[in-house]
This record gives sequence, structure tokens and C-alpha cells, in this order.
Amino acid sequence: MVTRLSVNINKIALIRNARGSNLPDLVQVAKDCEKFGAQGITVHPRPDERHIRYDDVPALKPIVSTEFNIEGNPTPRFLELVLAHRPHQCTLVPDDPQQLTSDHGWDTIKHEGFLKDVIAQLQEAGIRVSIFCDPEAKYIEGAKKTGTDRIELYTGPYAEAFAHAPDKAIAPYVAAGQFAGALGLGLNAGHDLNLDNLRFFSQQVPHLLEVSIGHALVVDALYYGLEDTIGRYLNCLSI
Ligand code: PXP
Repeated sequence: MVTRLSVNINKIALIRNARGSNLPDLVQVAKDCEKFGAQGITVHPRPDERHIRYDDVPALKPIVSTEFNIEGNPTPRFLELVLAHRPHQCTLVPDDPQQLTSDHGWDTIKHEGFLKDVIAQLQEAGIRVSIFCDPEAKYIEGAKKTGTDRIELYTGPYAEAFAHAPDKAIAPYVAAGQFAGALGLGLNAGHDLNLDNLRFFSQQVPHLLEVSIGHALVVDALYYGLEDTIGRYLNCLSI
């Protein structure tokens, strides 16, 4: 089983927004990511629209020919957007409006009822649901009870610890992958994955269906170009 690469294009939108024009053209970049081998496109509209804007979603939906994944905190406005445009997957993330970036998974025990309701609405519309989750058995068990199709493991702590203690860094994720598999939950992962830490992660963690990568991939593209960079990330996932 080869893990799929979904490219998060938030940073492309951030560069576009810096000048108020349509450069770079987000739709063209999404098409090019797919042409260069990406198997999915991810966007994360936040309430302040500092990178992806809500009106980027209707522009992207018809041109994404792989998997379109919209991630974010399920506020009423976010849910309205997702239900109107029906991506293949919606990843629910418990981030605050002002947060710089996502930095923790759901407390699936405390928010079980809320998540259940939201997930049922999305699934009824034919949208696969994934929820952002820390690699802890109690939260994965809680995720199972919400009815979600998949979980996305928050890999920030792995990325931080990888350089000095890779075996220790990966251990909770291996256990989480095994546990999710045993419960019949699909497994995605994302945050701070890069060309140094991705291969080890994908080799070690079982049942990994998809990774979503944005920041490091866009930074690498400054040096290697987008096509070469996507090829390098795919290569990390191929073994
Ligand atoms: N997954 C989630 C839920 C995220 O919020 C983000 C960042 O927007 C990512 C994955 C991708 O993280 P990165 O940009 O560090 O690759």
C-alpha cells in the first residue's frame, strides 16, 4: 500500500494575498501539483481568510481531479461551505480563529456529541470525514465512537523530536496506527512533515493512507522547483 500525498496549498494562497492580485494563480498551482504527481489537494480556510479564502473553494472544486480535502474547525460558516461544495474528504480540526497553525487534536471524549452530529451531517452529504487526533489511545477510541471514517494524526511532536530521538519520536505513532487499524479507522497524518522525517514516518507507521503536507513542501519548492519537490516527497512515500 502506497501512502498518498495531498499537497496543502495554503502557503501559495498566502503569497498571492500579499499583493492583492492573482499571482500565483492558486487554481493553476493546484492543477500543476496534480500534474507533477500529487494525489490530493488540501485547503484550510480559516475565519480571517489569511491564506485560503472561502471563495477559493468553488474555484478549486471543479478542477481538482484527484482528492479534494477541506480541513478546518467546523463552525457554522465552515460547514455551510463544505456542504455546499462537497469535497471528497473533510478533516475537522479544533483550531482557534487566531491560532497561527493547528497544534493539537480533538478531545474526542469531551466533544463526542458535537463531533457525532457534525460527522453525520457531512457523511449524509457523501463526504468522507477525518478528524485531527493526537496519538493517544483514549482519543482514538473516542474518535471511533464519533463515527468518523478516518483520523489524521497530528505529527508536530514527532517532527520536533525526530532529529535527536527518532525511535522514541515514532513509537506513539506506530502504536496509534496499529490501534486505529484494529478499530477499523482509516489513517491520515500531517503537520511539520518534511523531506528529512517523512520516509521514516511512512516506513514505520502501519496502515497510513494519506499525508497532507504544506509548509515544508512549499519551502522546498523555492530551492528545487515544484515538480522536483513533489517527486522527492513521493519518493519518500514509495518505500
Ligand atoms: N494537517 C492539518 C490539520 C493542518 O492544519 C496543517 C497545516 O495547515 C497540515 C496538516 C499541514 O501542515 P504543514 O503545513 O506543516 O505541512
